[in-house]
Amino acid sequence: MVLCCGGKRVWVMLATMALVCVSTIVGLWVYQLTSFPPPTNKWDHYRLPDTLVPERYDVALWPRLDPDADGLYIFTGHSTVRFRCLRDTNLILLHCKQLKLSTMDSDGHLVKLTALRGTPPAIRKTWLHEPTQYLVVQLNGVVKAGQDYDLHTEFSGELSDDLEGLYRSEYTEDGVTKVVATSQMHPTHARKTFPCFDEPAMKAVFHITVLHKPGTLALSNGMEIAIEDTTVEGQAVTKTTFEPTKKMSTYLLALVVSDFDHLASLAGNTSIRIWARKNAIIQGHGSYALNVTVPVLKFFEDYYNISYPLSKSDQIALPDFYFGAMENWGLVTYREANLLYDPDVSSNRNKETTATIIAHELAHMWFGNLVTLKWWNEVWLNEGFASYVSYLGANRAEPTWNVKDLIVLDDVHRVFAVDALASSHPLSSKEEEIQRPEQISELFDAISYSKRGPQSCGCCLTSSLSLCSSRVSKHI
Ligand SMILES: *[C@@H]1O[C@H](CO)[C@@H](O)[C@H](O)[C@H]1NC(C)=O
Ligand SMILES: *[C@@H]1O[C@H](CO)[C@@H](O)[C@H](O)[C@H]1NC(C)=O
Ligand SMILES: *[C@@H]1O[C@H](CO)[C@@H](O)[C@H](O)[C@H]1NC(C)=O
Repeated sequence: MVLCCGGKRVWVMLATMALVCVSTIVGLWVYQLTSFPPPTNKWDHYRLPDTLVPERYDVALWPRLDPDADGLYIFTGHSTVRFRCLRDTNLILLHCKQLKLSTMDSDGHLVKLTALRGTPPAIRKTWLHEPTQYLVVQLNGVVKAGQDYDLHTEFSGELSDDLEGLYRSEYTEDGVTKVVATSQMHPTHARKTFPCFDEPAMKAVFHITVLHKPGTLALSNGMEIAIEDTTVEGQAVTKTTFEPTKKMSTYLLALVVSDFDHLASLAGNTSIRIWARKNAIIQGHGSYALNVTVPVLKFFEDYYNISYPLSKSDQIALPDFYFGAMENWGLVTYREANLLYDPDVSSNRNKETTATIIAHELAHMWFGNLVTLKWWNEVWLNEGFASYVSYLGANRAEPTWNVKDLIVLDDVHRVFAVDALASSHPLSSKEEEIQRPEQISELFDAISYSKRGPQSCGCCLTSSLSLCSSRVSKHI
């Protein structure tokens, strides 16, 4: 009896506890779903506030091609960003990832702020906020609307072999291991090279200077305008200064330090160069790319009815490269197999790939680089259009190939297969659905690759648009 009674009490207690647990879980769950408070601090948001816009950057970088005493490859640099304040604010946010910033004053602040007119507000606090990849600068007063300010930082980072930001690539030539410093800023890796407003709409003019080992050469988006040998921190270095870029997005920046060789040609006043390992150039593997580039550039000038916007067009074949190719403005980077063509070994398919990939990347020099998407949710428009016109460009270079017929085979049919899968996703997303760097990168996943690469659903859509109205694609 007692046992039974006691048993009953235990059951009642257990049942009550279970009810309390379940209702707590449900309650928390409902609370999280319905009233999860949005982050209150600006630095917890992934998108930059609309208070400041960059105007120009002066960036100096020094990648070390030899390991330091600890066996680490590093780069050092300093950068000044001039920004215009649109609305009064006491907070400056810049993207910054995996960089070590030097302190700039006796209070240990990581930045130096100057005003172009008058005195700047004093700095209250600076710190690196890792979750959202920000350098946060809190001010005692405010930066004022309509005024320009300079923000200076000095930093160092690892020149690692992770294929992101400014990174290290190694290859062997004639039994010697050689190190190349190269870059991949797209989509969100510029912040790993220097603190910057790393969103595509935050366009600015970049003044780039590179210090590098004597005997190597440095390339960037603009033409080299000064190359001088000098001594820095007791080391002999070569200092290369580049022509300022056009106003452009951070994701289009590029920088390569190597001992590569090149082939050159001219299209109108535009200097055209194909860069690769010395051996590849000596063996003539860059010759086909050079032959294709001139007619393709001419084709796009006619097609867009706008002259090629820059003074030079460099294309470089890299031993280690994440994507197939990247349309950095004025310095397009490629996987070796996509730019180089060896008549003795490469197949006709290789040749066709080289012609269409070059046309795809050069199409971006206007559509994508001169005119740029506001945010990553519309990436299909950029890539789909470039994929479609890449056939038109390649057709100009190789008119006997009927390369336009391949759209049906390589794009339409291929993307039908991918789009039939349950894992397919919409072409375009809402702007607010794409926030975190991982979400941006996810847009370039397996399915988006077929939307982004030569096999493009975006391509099918833009080609249909173009068929409906030949004007649409030109006026987007
Ligand atoms: C090349 O530049 C010269 C001098 O700036 C100019 O007169 C000429 O028209 C240009 N040629 C082309 C094809 O743009
Ligand atoms: C590039 O063009 C030149 C001149 O027309 C030609 O001799 C050469 O064979 C071409 N190179 C390739 C790889 O097609
Ligand atoms: C090309 O541009 C020029 C100058 O901007 C303009 O006069 C001409 O009408 C344009 N051609 C076409 C086909 O749009």
